[in-house]
Amino acid sequence: MVKGLKGLILAGGHGTRLRPLTFTGNKHLLPIANKPMVFYGLEHLRNAGIKDIAVILGPLREGFAELVGNGSSFGVNLTYIEQPIPLGLAHAALISKDFMYGDPFIMYLGDNLLRDGVLPFKRKFEREKLDCVIGVSEAKDPTRFGVVELANGKVVSLVEKPKHPKSNLALVGVYVFGPKIFEAISKIKPSARNELEITEAIQQLINDGGKVGFEKVTGWWKDTGRPEDLLEANQLVLSGLQPQSYDLSLPPDAILTGNVVVGKGTKFSGKVRVLGPVIIGDDCVIGPEVYIGPYTSIGDKSVLDHAEIENSIVMSGVNLQSGKRVTDSLIGSSSVIKNADLSLPRGYKLIIGERSFAQI
Ligand code: G1P
Repeated sequence: MVKGLKGLILAGGHGTRLRPLTFTGNKHLLPIANKPMVFYGLEHLRNAGIKDIAVILGPLREGFAELVGNGSSFGVNLTYIEQPIPLGLAHAALISKDFMYGDPFIMYLGDNLLRDGVLPFKRKFEREKLDCVIGVSEAKDPTRFGVVELANGKVVSLVEKPKHPKSNLALVGVYVFGPKIFEAISKIKPSARNELEITEAIQQLINDGGKVGFEKVTGWWKDTGRPEDLLEANQLVLSGLQPQSYDLSLPPDAILTGNVVVGKGTKFSGKVRVLGPVIIGDDCVIGPEVYIGPYTSIGDKSVLDHAEIENSIVMSGVNLQSGKRVTDSLIGSSSVIKNADLSLPRGYKLIIGERSFAQI
């Protein structure tokens, strides 16, 4: 039986590929289906029975402690550890060594979302008395990830972002480690991107005779490094949205179809059409003349009138009066989008010849 399994959430890093959304804020607090991204990892660790969790934070920590606090609202104890410079995932693990105090731990990259959580990893680690369990998932473009090579059901090699991957099995951002990982980390050198790579540390652990097992992830997995990944993660979470039984007083012209979740205090007026899956936060004002299409999340206190939007993430306090349709978009908190002249004709003007095909 594992003694005191702990948790480690990595929420440092600069999120450069998500700029400008991450210029001033921590990317792990960006909302996916109206929930800060890091909450998903925290809840997974909590659901695996873990009580003591350390969170690694870089300089972009604004709002983090206020939102996540000491963990009591999640039923866990949170400790914050500072990583002033992003020197890599293995470095982040290394600075948590004192906190782990010789106990095994699950390391969760705070920008990863996994449908099925971390319990299968924990069970495998305990059952097989391993030094490490990694998660693997088939990726379309493995060159973007750490890549794992297997032979006869065993992990043979791991390479970080290889140009010529030996398989399509990517390392997902969840790892279970016993204390031997710290010795392996102490032996590796910074990579070409000047980071201590956890992938190399695990390879070192194998070279030193450590027992490394793998768990194939069956449900969806998403690393949210790029803007399009955020939209895809939003789609994946929203596709599992449970229908809400609401007590909404809707105006006669408001039609909500499919799985639509609406927060408290949100009001609809005039002609409104919402086609789920859609989540709308608290205290929003929606209408008149609004269409919200599938895979859209609207943050708290947003105001939409004369607007059409679908497959998008609208953060909180946004004022959207777009006139024309907005799609596949990420709209940061407190933004204002106005269409100067809503009285212009909103349709397409088309002169189409014979035998045409138009998809508009
Ligand atoms: C990191 C790891 C990589 C892993 C990925 C999963 O990459 O280094 O091995 O496949 O997370 O999200 P990074 O996001 O730092 O580029």
